[in-house]
Amino acid sequence: MSFFWEALQRVALVCCTLGIALTFRVNPPQDFEIVDPGYLGYLCLQWKPPLFLDNFKECTVEYELKYRNFGSKIWKTIITTNLYYKDGFDLNKGVEAKIHTLLPQQCTNESTVRSLWSEATYWTPPQGNVETKIQDMDCVYYNWLYLFCSWKPGMDVPLDTNYNLFYWYDGLDHPMQCDDYMTINGQNTGCSFPSLKSPDYKDFYICVNGSSRSTAIRPSYFIFQLQNIVKPLPPDYVSLTLKDSNEVILKWSVPAGPIPAACFIYEVLVTEDDTTRVSTTIENEMCITRKSNKSNQVCFLVKSKVNIYCSETGIWSEWSEEQCWRG
Ligand SMILES: *[C@@H]1O[C@H](CO)[C@@H](O)[C@H](O)[C@H]1NC(C)=O
Ligand SMILES: *[C@@H]1O[C@H](CO)[C@@H](O)[C@H](O)[C@H]1NC(C)=O
Ligand SMILES: *[C@@H]1O[C@H](CO)[C@@H](O)[C@H](O)[C@H]1NC(C)=O
Repeated sequence: MSFFWEALQRVALVCCTLGIALTFRVNPPQDFEIVDPGYLGYLCLQWKPPLFLDNFKECTVEYELKYRNFGSKIWKTIITTNLYYKDGFDLNKGVEAKIHTLLPQQCTNESTVRSLWSEATYWTPPQGNVETKIQDMDCVYYNWLYLFCSWKPGMDVPLDTNYNLFYWYDGLDHPMQCDDYMTINGQNTGCSFPSLKSPDYKDFYICVNGSSRSTAIRPSYFIFQLQNIVKPLPPDYVSLTLKDSNEVILKWSVPAGPIPAACFIYEVLVTEDDTTRVSTTIENEMCITRKSNKSNQVCFLVKSKVNIYCSETGIWSEWSEEQCWRG
């Protein structure tokens, strides 16, 4: 078959030089596979060039790669001239990928030529029953400094079950185990992470697996970007001054810590006698007009969150202390 194919390509080349119309064909990449280097979800998709590329020495062959987690409706598509591609996947599910060779227009003098697809799949060997997975995983990156995760044990697990947390991000040589667990009755239910070196704006991978003498425990995988789970401190200095009988100026300090002032959004809750209004701002002061110059009391509270210029999402801080003016 491949001899035949090679022969055909030779014919094609001859035809081409004779100016005879013909269609080019190209083989799919060889040995396409999905390799798990043990980074808790960061996988490598790799392949080798197709057979019989010699006829296209003059041109750069491209590959169109499509991949997704099982159950996802959308394929991610990458066009590359490399022989590998790396990305993060949710290892709670399997992964499927396909790739074909592309001969760009300039190689064929006609439209782009595509090979058939090569396909590959990957999943971590299934282990334990779904009920043995941890529940309610919750991770918060306090003040963009201190990461803490907590969870509850699986629904139906033997008493001797214990869980372990492993994490990895680009910058660590290998996955690390948590070395400061929070425990309840001797069972690990949370992890205080050590101080981490540049862990933000990249995928942060976590696996919580476990063991018991009597049954296998199903691991759970998570991927976060830490800047998206920041919970800042509330502004710690708040003040309220009456500008005149109608206007009130509210001011607060930028929360202490490493988060730049430009990264905050604030929510302000103003209570005037019995009425309450809420507004948001990225400034750290606000001028409000009293609803009535007869009101007896104006109070406000403020809380902070990382804004859309610095993260996709975030967690609101606690409320600040309340400040009031009383007439
Ligand atoms: C591509 O087509 C043009 C015009 O048909 C021709 O002049 C040129 O030699 C062709 N190039 C190749 C590489 O076949
Ligand atoms: C838990 O995951 C880590 C990291 O992948 C692995 O080294 C360890 O063997 C796993 N433990 C169990 C009990 O599966
Ligand atoms: C209070 O408001 C009323 C009507 O809105 C106005 O007539 C009055 O002058 C105000 N009083 C003061 C002290 O500004």
